[in-house]
Amino acid sequence: MKHIYQKGTDAAAPVLVLFHGTGGTERDLLPLAGAISKASSVLSVRGNVLENGMPRFFRRLAEGIFDEEDLIFRTKEVYDFLDQAAVEHGFDRQNVVAVGYSNGANIAGSLLFHYPDALRGAILHHPMVPRRGVQLPELAGTPIFIGAGKNDPICSPQETEELTALLGEAGAAVHVHWEQAGHQLTRSEVDAAAAWYKTNF
Ligand code: MLT
Repeated sequence: MKHIYQKGTDAAAPVLVLFHGTGGTERDLLPLAGAISKASSVLSVRGNVLENGMPRFFRRLAEGIFDEEDLIFRTKEVYDFLDQAAVEHGFDRQNVVAVGYSNGANIAGSLLFHYPDALRGAILHHPMVPRRGVQLPELAGTPIFIGAGKNDPICSPQETEELTALLGEAGAAVHVHWEQAGHQLTRSEVDAAAAWYKTNF
């Protein structure tokens, strides 16, 4: 997959894997990595799907309605890519924390829904429930930050609560941070994620 890898100064710090929102690129979230953990290596990935020229991580049938078959296929594609990237760039595959926004938060959420060992933790900005009616893997103690907007028209507060409950039932340690705003990623949400990261890693 097209990506940027920036080697950090602390080999023991988690590797931050960045997943952009619809229409973004692997450059978009690089400033977030600096705010969260300056010493970390960063792997920033571009989604392989194009929707009217806009990169995404999996296909959707309409706003908020995912192509489930493609989601499952693309989730495995990203999972396999992380394995390969760890070998290619020489980082610890077990020490990966995802940072995703919107569609990127949804592919990171899907990794958590499908694999017990995909991520050591995750910062999900405005995620949705990636799939329903499936058994989640054991996520014992996996730290997950969810940033949500009380007025988000794409990820409703009810959907945030549903996702929080599903991840919590799988054993994850979920922290939800609420903003009054909509779907946009605000500075205060980034600051809250950075503060959460410092207490969890
Ligand atoms: C998605 O398709 O993943 C969500 O609707 C978020 C987005 O707009 O990308």
